[in-house]
Amino acid sequence: MTEKKLHFGIIGFGFMGQTHAKMITDDLDYAELIAVCDANKLQLENAAQGYDTYLKADELLKDDRIDTVIIAVPNHLHLEMVKKVAAAGKDVICEKPAAMNATEFEEMQRVTEEAGVRFTIHHQRRWDKDYNIAKEVYQSGTLGKTYTIQNSLYGFNGNMHDWHVYPEFGGGMLYDWGIHLLDQMLYMVDSKLVAVYATVKNVINTDVDDYFNIQLQFENGVTGQVELGTYFLSNEDGWFERHWFLGGNEGSAKIDGFHPQGEITRTTDLLRNVPGQITMTAAGPTRSFGPAPEGRIVTEALPEVNVSHRDYFDRYYDYVTGKGELIVKPEEIHRLMKLMDAIRVSAAEHRSVSFE
Ligand SMILES: NC(=O)c1ccc[n+]([C@@H]2O[C@H](COP(=O)([O-])OP(=O)(O)OC[C@H]3O[C@@H](n4cnc5c(N)ncnc54)[C@H](O)[C@@H]3O)[C@@H](O)[C@H]2O)c1
Repeated sequence: MTEKKLHFGIIGFGFMGQTHAKMITDDLDYAELIAVCDANKLQLENAAQGYDTYLKADELLKDDRIDTVIIAVPNHLHLEMVKKVAAAGKDVICEKPAAMNATEFEEMQRVTEEAGVRFTIHHQRRWDKDYNIAKEVYQSGTLGKTYTIQNSLYGFNGNMHDWHVYPEFGGGMLYDWGIHLLDQMLYMVDSKLVAVYATVKNVINTDVDDYFNIQLQFENGVTGQVELGTYFLSNEDGWFERHWFLGGNEGSAKIDGFHPQGEITRTTDLLRNVPGQITMTAAGPTRSFGPAPEGRIVTEALPEVNVSHRDYFDRYYDYVTGKGELIVKPEEIHRLMKLMDAIRVSAAEHRSVSFE
């Protein structure tokens, strides 16, 4: 049996705290869950046998058996908890969004550095399957010079609940899902981000955002777009899924769903040396938008990837045991938090914001 090297405590035993507890106890043979804590004792009734429960973070932090603490409380409490955990000399894995803004995050960096503890953020969606296919397609260069990467996520029912409906608790979809979609884009496109333009709206929620559309202009010529709507209605199967579209000068890729389907599409010689033909379409006669002439479209399968959210912890374990580097680095998350701040300025002032 593998020697247990990580001894976890979890602060906040709601949806995500319980998800972490299950992963640690069921799947991670190098880790042990020592204790969990939640201010609401009803949540502690969901604890399984084999680990302790506390009502107060301070009590959990006195437990000397714990070396690593996962923070899974609502977003506005992350800074307070990071400070407590760092002061207790324990390593910190904080849930996303790391902080409410870049200034808060800088304080987190300072306190964890001063305490000499490890510090990272739970951005497990860097190991989403559809994302890794999109990343592989883009980074392999198979599309030639990529000019657009679009990433969208649509849902039906507004889906805001509990503290997520309060701005002061860090509610809203930008903090909830936006942070994942933006982290994925920044981690994929290795280029300076020159400018950002964002639209952020409350469509059916009164106080927090439930729709956004964000354009990211990278120095290498890629335009990234992330769009999310929780009240984006369609009767189409698979609509509540994620959709990727990547366009390059040698092909396009479409990747649909978290269990992705799609393909890479290319033209044979359509892009070069083919005179415009007038085609009659429902939109009227066109030379640019008609269907491709017979035989001029070829498709290829998407690359295979083998990833899962468990990889997040496996890579963290590699880092702690000196077998690999930290994947979700504080400096990357600082850049992400600065981007979140720029998005809010852009949306409030209806203007493009220069970034780097
Ligand atoms: N990485 C992901 O995919 C992912 C998914 C969902 C949520 N999250 C993040 O996890 C965090 C928690 O979200 P959730 O959906 O689990 O919320 P939740 O409301 O289900 O759970 C939060 C828990 O924290 C407890 N709590 C509040 N104040 C506390 C305190 N002072 N001390 C101890 N416990 C306290 C609450 O009682 C509650 O049980 C958020 O930051 C959220 O953004 C991340």
